[in-house]
Amino acid sequence: MQFDLDADVPVHWVADSKFMTHFYNALSVVFPEGEKFFVRSVRQYEDRITDPELREQVRGFCAQEGHHTFQHRELNARVAQHGFSTTRWDRWVKGYLRFVWAILWPKARLALTCALEHYTAVMGNQLLAYPEQQAPVHSKMLPLWLWHAVEETEHKAVAYDVYQHVGGGYFTRVLLQLMASLTFFPIVHGIQLRLMLEDRAAPTRLRDICRGIYFLWGKPGGLRRMLPELFSYFRPGFHPWDHDNRELIDQWKRSQGAIDHIRA
Ligand SMILES: [Fe+2]
Ligand SMILES: [Fe+2]
Repeated sequence: MQFDLDADVPVHWVADSKFMTHFYNALSVVFPEGEKFFVRSVRQYEDRITDPELREQVRGFCAQEGHHTFQHRELNARVAQHGFSTTRWDRWVKGYLRFVWAILWPKARLALTCALEHYTAVMGNQLLAYPEQQAPVHSKMLPLWLWHAVEETEHKAVAYDVYQHVGGGYFTRVLLQLMASLTFFPIVHGIQLRLMLEDRAAPTRLRDICRGIYFLWGKPGGLRRMLPELFSYFRPGFHPWDHDNRELIDQWKRSQGAIDHIRA
């Protein structure tokens, strides 16, 4: 995939809002190092995967996450051109995840990946399933986020299947889901806040912050709507494909076909 990130995109590319733009920018900042962590944690068990189909899926998973890392770094570099310290926060995430890697045991690292992959899959589902979530994103930026959401959906069960394949248990899975839940959004919102403080392009207005919070938690309320699916992860027999949303992938692929056809 190639994205036209050099195109003329305004500083506030989500809903013309400082709050919403830096929420997306903060997500993009945590992705590259996060996804490297995911790949490393799965690769720890590469030699123990006896199922050839799962081995193939792992190869696809690593390739997809590698592309996401690359594309989000491109996006972050573009955001940095406006004077934002995305590189500094990328380094901070790297240091934080190095610490997390050091304090966790191998299966717990993989369990953390499973938990965060569940987050990315559930967020991706929100973006793909609800046009009102897509509408505020600038048309030059939206394709990258939709593509990422599709691939997160495609591979949403890979880390989880590896975890089960190598005998990962319920307790560790749930423990690391709790850790992910307690840390993921505080980190994202922390980086968002710092980027907002650096932003001199427009004054910070309480109205913009309230609107942004209402967009996330009220209407359409993507974060609020994610909660039931996030909680479903605590069910002992949970599997990511319990929620079969393959249709969203097909829908996106059909739309790409249509676009390619128009270009041709
Ligand atoms: Fe990804
Ligand atoms: Fe992923």
